[in-house]
Amino acid sequence: MIVLLACHRAPPPPTPVDGRDAFVPGVEWRDTDGAPIEAHGGGVLRVGRRYYWYGENHRLGGGNKTGISAYSSTDLLHWKNEGVVLPKDSLPERFRDRGVAERPKVIYERRTKRYVMWMHLDANRYSDASAGVAVSASPNGPFRLVRVFRPIGYDYGYGADSAQLRERELGNTFRDMALLADDDGRAYVFYASESNRTMYVSRLSDDYTDVARPIVEGRTWARLFPDARREAPAPFKVDGTYYLITSGQSGWDPNPARYHVAERVLGPWRTVGNPAVGPDSATTFRSQSAFVLPVPSACARCFVFMADRWEPRALERSTYVWLPFVVRPGEPLRIELVPRWDLGAFRALAAR
Ligand code: DGJ
Repeated sequence: MIVLLACHRAPPPPTPVDGRDAFVPGVEWRDTDGAPIEAHGGGVLRVGRRYYWYGENHRLGGGNKTGISAYSSTDLLHWKNEGVVLPKDSLPERFRDRGVAERPKVIYERRTKRYVMWMHLDANRYSDASAGVAVSASPNGPFRLVRVFRPIGYDYGYGADSAQLRERELGNTFRDMALLADDDGRAYVFYASESNRTMYVSRLSDDYTDVARPIVEGRTWARLFPDARREAPAPFKVDGTYYLITSGQSGWDPNPARYHVAERVLGPWRTVGNPAVGPDSATTFRSQSAFVLPVPSACARCFVFMADRWEPRALERSTYVWLPFVVRPGEPLRIELVPRWDLGAFRALAAR
């Protein structure tokens, strides 16, 4: 009898190991094993009903000595550790130890059925400034590095920095980056180039592991915001309009974000202003942009702004600032600090 009763009763909802029932910006976020999530400077990819969050794993020390990790979730709140999908020690020597693998982003390429990761690879003291591209047959890895390069060479006049970085010989530098998978199957990479002075955007090759060739300025790639020194790009698209959130450059310290809009990916882009509003908006809520995640299950114009609150002296203790926002046609972007929220928050935001 007891057994029968037990069978008819709905099982109690599982208690999350991390005890979380809400997004709380700037507070340690634990995975479903109870360990702090290590996915900094990262991005999220949706695969069916699962989300995969990729990012820098600094557990073994700053410079993400561990490599690139992946976590998966169906509700964006509780994340299962899928492990290190690109170990740091699988990279060429100069990127290990004191080198870095930063801001990884993954998109899916339908034709080759492969998950393609792009990242910023750099040597000691950021002296290499290259793109890294890795591929995997599965979203939870393992990823295999297939290309290390500086995608575009362009004579912008150069300068002292570029001589050290050998931009004339090797192509222009590649640092903070992001990918954008467009709805027509094309994909783009945005990155800080020209020794961090100017943002570039380039269309990717059909298999997403290279830039589109032949490289033609204005047709396959463009220079954005010359000499404006923007980084931490986070692109997204709403109703046919492209948006790009960027930060200024102040190392690990936060600064005011800006956003830019365009009707075509290669531009022209227009800088509009700071998308952050309210308390702490001058420091982007003490964080730096990493990614903008569409949440179509909440509404067509619902997004999560994902950012890192860096702890420069102990990068593994950096936290995440995730904030919900809704894009309203014809109105400026507004991202506000919400100290505690769940996906229901979109309903209230959309009704405003
Ligand atoms: C700011 C960048 O956005 C980060 O990804 C990292 O490269 C730090 N600079 C290093 O100082």
